[in-house]
Amino acid sequence: MNMQTPRLSANDVFDILEAKTIKLSQAGYYAMYSSWLGGIVTDVGLMNLPIDDHMVHRGDGVFEALKLVNGGIYLLEEHLERLFLGAAKLNLNQNYNKDQLRQIILQTAQAGLDFFVQKNPGAQIQDFSAIVRLFLSRGPGSFGTNPYETIGNQFYCVITELKAVSPEKYKTGVSIGKSHLAVKSSWFPTIKSCNYLPNVLMKKEAVDRHLDFTVTFTDEGFMAESSTENIFLLDRSLQLVHPRCDYILKGTMMTRIFELAKYHNIVPVAEPADITESNLIGAQGVFMSGTTFDLLPVNNYEGMKIPSATVYEKLFKLLKEDQRAGSPKMTALK
Ligand SMILES: Cc1ncc(COP(=O)(O)O)c(C=O)c1O
Repeated sequence: MNMQTPRLSANDVFDILEAKTIKLSQAGYYAMYSSWLGGIVTDVGLMNLPIDDHMVHRGDGVFEALKLVNGGIYLLEEHLERLFLGAAKLNLNQNYNKDQLRQIILQTAQAGLDFFVQKNPGAQIQDFSAIVRLFLSRGPGSFGTNPYETIGNQFYCVITELKAVSPEKYKTGVSIGKSHLAVKSSWFPTIKSCNYLPNVLMKKEAVDRHLDFTVTFTDEGFMAESSTENIFLLDRSLQLVHPRCDYILKGTMMTRIFELAKYHNIVPVAEPADITESNLIGAQGVFMSGTTFDLLPVNNYEGMKIPSATVYEKLFKLLKEDQRAGSPKMTALK
């Protein structure tokens, strides 16, 4: 078959992008800030990146996903802190400080809310829940690996729909299994970099095995984490314990759960530890945490039953209270 690839004028491109916006208007993408454009767009067709940004072709960037509920962004400072720590380790950020990003994020979230209300007349701020996605990239300038060849790093922020996890999972728990993938080496697991191929393959592994999550183990046999989730235990001595943070991404949600557990005296909290597979199998409770779903109980590991722990309900309730408007960990949009 003879195929003719069209050569497009700028006007053709604008028409195509407009058509894409109309087609994708239900996609649940509410707003995007791009430093490349220097502003915010709400047309889905315009939510694009320059292809020579090293984040696109080399994964050279760091990212974050934050939750927006009850009129505010939860754990904004903690996510910004992790973004900046990762960027510092990669020597990535010359252009931004936290104050600038905080303002851009809140203004983009507000644009997302305005767009949502426009599409859902009568909707209130409390009806709006979203994921705030941050990307700090090496920037455009060439197609090689050389980080010095870019014109400087860029910041993108996208506000997207928050997809709820089935309520059933919170009641009955999730099934997990052992991952065949290796833990990322050296300090790479501690950075939320855009180089997430192992995480992608873990997700695929879980889907292919009809599991909710799989969990990696280090070469020494220590439990690490899931594709984009943390895992922690109520151990045999009924203490809450999570893996040491050298070989995991230290989750903002997990960290907050441990703070709340300690502060409210819900359960004794142990120092982070090397946790083996037999510790996992013998645990009195196993939990997954992450920004989008907060906290989920695990009901089995590789088909072996994990007991349900009453502490789960208490921790979950505290998290929900922590995400109410006015809580110190919520940054209000207005
Ligand atoms: C590898 C990895 N571990 C754990 C988490 C959980 O982190 P948080 O609680 O900050 O969402 C994430 C988040 O995406 C992740 O990518």
